[in-house]
Amino acid sequence: MPRRSLPIIFRPLHRAAAFTVIATCVTALLTATAIADDAAKEIARARDLVEHGRLADGIVACVACHRDSGQGDAESAFGNLTGLTESYIAKQLTDYRSGIRENRVMQVVAAKLTDADIAALAGYYSKLEASGAKSPLPEPPAIGVTLAEQGDAAREIPSCVTCHNVAALAGNDTIPNIAGQHALYISRQLEAWQTGARNNDPGSIMSSIAKKLTADEINAVALYFAWQKRKAP
Ligand code: HEC
Ligand code: HEC
Repeated sequence: MPRRSLPIIFRPLHRAAAFTVIATCVTALLTATAIADDAAKEIARARDLVEHGRLADGIVACVACHRDSGQGDAESAFGNLTGLTESYIAKQLTDYRSGIRENRVMQVVAAKLTDADIAALAGYYSKLEASGAKSPLPEPPAIGVTLAEQGDAAREIPSCVTCHNVAALAGNDTIPNIAGQHALYISRQLEAWQTGARNNDPGSIMSSIAKKLTADEINAVALYFAWQKRKAP
């Protein structure tokens, strides 16, 4: 049977359909390019702050303290920023900025960060490879192991790994990874919850736990987590 062309009435429709398809493709391409552009701008914004800071706004380069690797510094208790989720990092920077998490150094750094800076920095650090001790640290004292793994029911202290269990952290944006975090950093946080200098934990869960711990227990449990290897949640 000879092929018959479409009745004349359908031809403009055909053309219109072809135009719609082309227009959709072009729009999709432009959107993809715009997204790629935005992503590139976000990475550039983060890298600039990480490597150079913005001194006019009192923002010191993050690498000065958290190092190129993001691992921070054990002796100075500059936190290990690797192995943390994007939303946790963004929350902490926002909390330093508002002052509900007090720290002389980080409050100055965060004071003039814009929301866009915070989003870019959180994206940048959450994508670094998780790294940190299993280290030459001594094995943690027994009281640290017990507290971390079993808690103390008599004093209503839950085991830390109920929540800070790296394997269970995937997809949980509110509980930070503390395995392979620096011991001094961990003990400083527990002390900050005891004094109220850090006051940003959902439901006061961490401050109520920290207030029950003795100084020896804080040191022991900090050594326990610092001794673990840092893994991505
Ligand atoms: C002069 C040193 C210094 C500089 C520069 C610095 N930090 Fe910090 N950072 C610290 C210290 C000290 C702490 C721990 C503060 C505390 O105990 O709350 C910290 C903690 C943090 C935390 C909290 C980590 C956690 O696990 O909750 C984040 C996030 C952070 N810094 C991000 C940044 C970013 C992003 C920059 C760059 C814009 C930066 N810091 C620049 C010293 C510094
Ligand atoms: C019921 C869940 C839960 C339990 C149990 C728990 N934590 Fe936490 N922990 C949290 C949450 C949630 C946060 C994040 C608070 C915030 O948003 O700042 C946190 C934060 C922390 C931080 C700060 C980490 C950082 O990067 O700054 C440390 C240190 C910590 N916990 C130690 C412990 C220790 C030690 C124990 C056991 C004695 C423990 N936690 C038990 C939920 C818990």
